[in-house]
Amino acid sequence: MNRTNAGDELAGCVAQLRWHLWGLREAGVRSRAPSAPQSPPRAHPAAPADGRETLSRIGEELQGCTRCGLHSGRANLVFGEGSARSGLVFVGEGPGADEDRLGRPFVGRAGKLLDKMIFAMGLDRTEVYICNVVKCRPPENRAPLPDEVASCAPFLFRQIDALGPKVLCALGLSAAQALLGSSEPLSSLRGKARLWRGMPLVCTYHPAYLLRTPSRKASAWQDLKEIMRLLKP
Ligand code: URA
Repeated sequence: MNRTNAGDELAGCVAQLRWHLWGLREAGVRSRAPSAPQSPPRAHPAAPADGRETLSRIGEELQGCTRCGLHSGRANLVFGEGSARSGLVFVGEGPGADEDRLGRPFVGRAGKLLDKMIFAMGLDRTEVYICNVVKCRPPENRAPLPDEVASCAPFLFRQIDALGPKVLCALGLSAAQALLGSSEPLSSLRGKARLWRGMPLVCTYHPAYLLRTPSRKASAWQDLKEIMRLLKP
């Protein structure tokens, strides 16, 4: 085995161990050592020094948004959170009930699985940025309609530009189609990295789908490994 293969294999083992450890933690298993206090995720990262538009500015423009019908049912607009410190931005579909209540993305059951996926990649939730195609909750958690996506997508695109990530990950069909302007099924959009404005975009299954269909987790792991490869310097 050459050094590169050995290194890759070791990285794979470490990632799987992290996945396993996260599972134990979720199941309530705790180490004896007191855990280090976790810093709360930042709502907006600091303004980039290179003159790019800031997230705060985009967030301000969205305050009180009534551009589409989703505003009438929302408790909170869910802008996004985290940082692109790792170079990675996740884009989901739209807030669910928990997210709408708390004003934060991916904090419900699907969010717990996303946390696990991030951890398995050797990252922490605060090192990635997490947002959605639409910023207000679609009723009954339905997929956002084309006019809702059309109203919100320009803000998503500006958000991504402001963050300047190295890699984008679309979680599920709505995000993949909105970013790629495609109507193809996820089965044809995932499996190989695409480009979004010259930036690698990996489309994978939505964590909520993975909760319902655990047999797809192995394929999702392949997508996450591809992201890890693309993030390497
Ligand atoms: N599903 C999403 O697509 N986004 C969230 O923020 C939560 C669940």
